Amino acid sequence: MNTLHFGDNLEVLKNIKDESVDLIYLDPPFNSNATYNVLFSERDGLPSQAQADAFEDTWGWETGIAARAFDDATKCGDNLAILMPSFRAWLGDTGLTAYLSMMAVRLIEMKRILKPSGSLFLHCDPTAGHYLKLLLDAIFTAQNFRNEIIWRRSASHNKLSRQFGPIHDTILFYSASEDFVFHPGRTPYTKDYIAKMFRYQDEKGAYRLNEITGSGVRTGQSGKPWKGYNPTAKGRHWAIPASLRASLPRAGQGMATQAMLDALAKEGAIVFSPSGRPTYKQREGEGVPYQDVWAYQPGTKGVLQGRDEGIDQDVKWLDDDDERLGYPTQKPIGLLERIIESSSDEGAVILDPFCGCGTTVEAAERMKRQWIGIDIAHYAITLIERRLERYPESSFKVEGRPTTLAGAIELAKRDKHQFQWWAAWLLGAQRYEGKKGADRGIDANIFFPNGPYGFGRIIVSVKGGDNVSPVWVRELAGVVDREKADMGVLVTLAEPTRGMKVEAAGLGLLQRSVHGQKQRIQIATVAELLSGTFQKHLPPLPRPQIGIGRKRKDKDQLELMLPFETTAIMTEDGAFVDPRYLTIKAS
Ligand SMILES: C[S@@+](CC[C@H](N)C(=O)[O-])C[C@H]1O[C@@H](n2cnc3c(N)ncnc32)[C@H](O)[C@@H]1O
Repeated sequence: MNTLHFGDNLEVLKNIKDESVDLIYLDPPFNSNATYNVLFSERDGLPSQAQADAFEDTWGWETGIAARAFDDATKCGDNLAILMPSFRAWLGDTGLTAYLSMMAVRLIEMKRILKPSGSLFLHCDPTAGHYLKLLLDAIFTAQNFRNEIIWRRSASHNKLSRQFGPIHDTILFYSASEDFVFHPGRTPYTKDYIAKMFRYQDEKGAYRLNEITGSGVRTGQSGKPWKGYNPTAKGRHWAIPASLRASLPRAGQGMATQAMLDALAKEGAIVFSPSGRPTYKQREGEGVPYQDVWAYQPGTKGVLQGRDEGIDQDVKWLDDDDERLGYPTQKPIGLLERIIESSSDEGAVILDPFCGCGTTVEAAERMKRQWIGIDIAHYAITLIERRLERYPESSFKVEGRPTTLAGAIELAKRDKHQFQWWAAWLLGAQRYEGKKGADRGIDANIFFPNGPYGFGRIIVSVKGGDNVSPVWVRELAGVVDREKADMGVLVTLAEPTRGMKVEAAGLGLLQRSVHGQKQRIQIATVAELLSGTFQKHLPPLPRPQIGIGRKRKDKDQLELMLPFETTAIMTEDGAFVDPRYLTIKAS
C-alpha cells in the first residue's frame, strides 16, 4: 500500500524487502550555499557554529552516527573498503566525509531494494555531485552509470562576480543492471529545424534521411553485410533506431538484424543512395528523445512543432506560481513526471527516501504508480497529507507518527524539534516556527476566527522535558504579552504540577472573545492531545491541521495557512479574500 513514513530513512529502508522497488528518486539535503563551508571545515576547525548546527543535527560527526555509518559502509564490499578510507584520508574528518558516509549506507540499502529492472536518480549539485558519483560507481558499478543530467534550476544568478552564474543541478542516473526499464519521451523538433531538415515528402508525410549504421565495427550480426553493403568495411555496424523497430509488428521481436532490415525495406522505410549506402526515412513526428540537458528556455513559446509551450517547459524551475507550497527545497512536479515516465511503467513502485513536501509522491499518484515516501520532518509529512487531498481516490497510510504516549516519549528522545512540531500539529497549529522562533519562546501559532475582532492568535510552546515548573507558565505568559497575542498553550510531555495549573488559572481569561470564557494561558499534556480531550478548551479552529502556506512576506506580517478547500475567507470589513494571499499583522 502507498505509504508515507515519518522518520529516518535508513531505518525505514532496512525494513523494505530486497528487489521490491522499481524506481528511486532522491534529493538529499544538500544546499551548497549554506553548507559548503561546513562540509569542507575540519571537525576541529571553526566553521560558523550557527551554520554548522543546521546541518550537523543529523548529518555531522558530532552525534557519532556518521562515524558508525563510515565503519558500516567500509565493510560493504571491496569497492567501498577502498573508497571510504580514501575519502577520509583525503578530505579528513570534514562534514563532507560525514555526509558521504551517511549517504553510502543509505545508497547500499537502496541498491538492495531496487529490482534488477529498476533505476535510481540522485539529485545533487556540482558541489557534491562528483563525490556522490564515485560512491554510486562503487555501489552500482560504473557500467550501470547512465547519465549525468543537467537540470536548469533557475533563470539566472547574476550576483556573483568571480564565477559563472551557477544555475543548474545535477541528477545522476544509474540502473540496477544492464536490462532496465527505459522509454524516454521526446521533445518535438523546432519548427525551424523541421523546415530545414525534413525536406522530402512521400505518401506518409515529410521525412529526412538518417543513418542506419553507427560507428565502430562489431563481430556479430550487426557487422554482417546486407544487400551488398558491408558496414564493417566502412568501420561501422548496423544500428537500427528503436523508433524504426517500433514500426514493425511486435517491434521486430526475435528478428535477426538482416531479417529486420529486410522487413523495414519491404515497408519502404529504407532508401539507398546512388553509391548503395542505406539510410532510413526519419519522420518529423518523432521528435528528439530526451537528452541529458533539461533546461527550460524562456522566450521559446511557440517555436516547437505541434506544441504551444516553450522548450523544456515541462521541467521548468518553480516560479512564484501556484505549484509552490512554501517548502524551501521543493522541486517542480514536471521534473519528476519526466523521470517517472521515462523509467517506470504504470503500477510500478516509486520510492523517494527524502520526499520533502512530496513532489515525487504527487507525480507517482498522478501517473498511476504506487509510491513510498520517507521524510524525517513531521512538517513535510503533514504537507504531503494536505497535498494528496487533491486526489480523493488516493489511498495511503502514514507510518512512524506517534499514536501513543510511549511513542511520543520515544520521539522526544530522538529529536526534540520534531517532537515539538509534531505536538504542535496535534494541537492544531497552522504555522510553525524554526529555531529563531523557539529562541523567542514560540514553537508554533494557531489562528482562529474571532468575530468582529478578526483573527485571534494562540502561541504554542512545547516542552518535552520532565523538569516541569511554573516558570514555563510564567515564561509563556510573558511571550503572549510581548507578542500581543490572545492566548498561549503550553504543551507538556510530563504531567504538570498543581502549582503550574494554579499559576496558569491566575493569569486571567481570553479578552475580546466571541467564544465564551476561556483561560488565557492553558496547559495541555501530550496524553490529553492524543486522546482528544483538550481541544474543547480552545476556540473553534478553522481546521485542526496545517494547510499549505506561502512564504512570510516581511517581518511584520504573518501568512495564514489554511486548507485547500477553504476557498474564501471573510475579513473584518466583510470582504472575501483568497486565504492563500491573506496576510495579517503580526501584532
Ligand atoms: C532537499 S529536501 C527534498 C525536497 C523534495 N524533493 C521536494 O520536492 O519537496 C530533503 C529532505 O530530506 C529530509 N531528510 C533529511 N535527512 C533525512 C533522513 N535521514 N531521513 C529522511 N528524510 C531526511 C529533509 O527533511 C528534507 O525534507
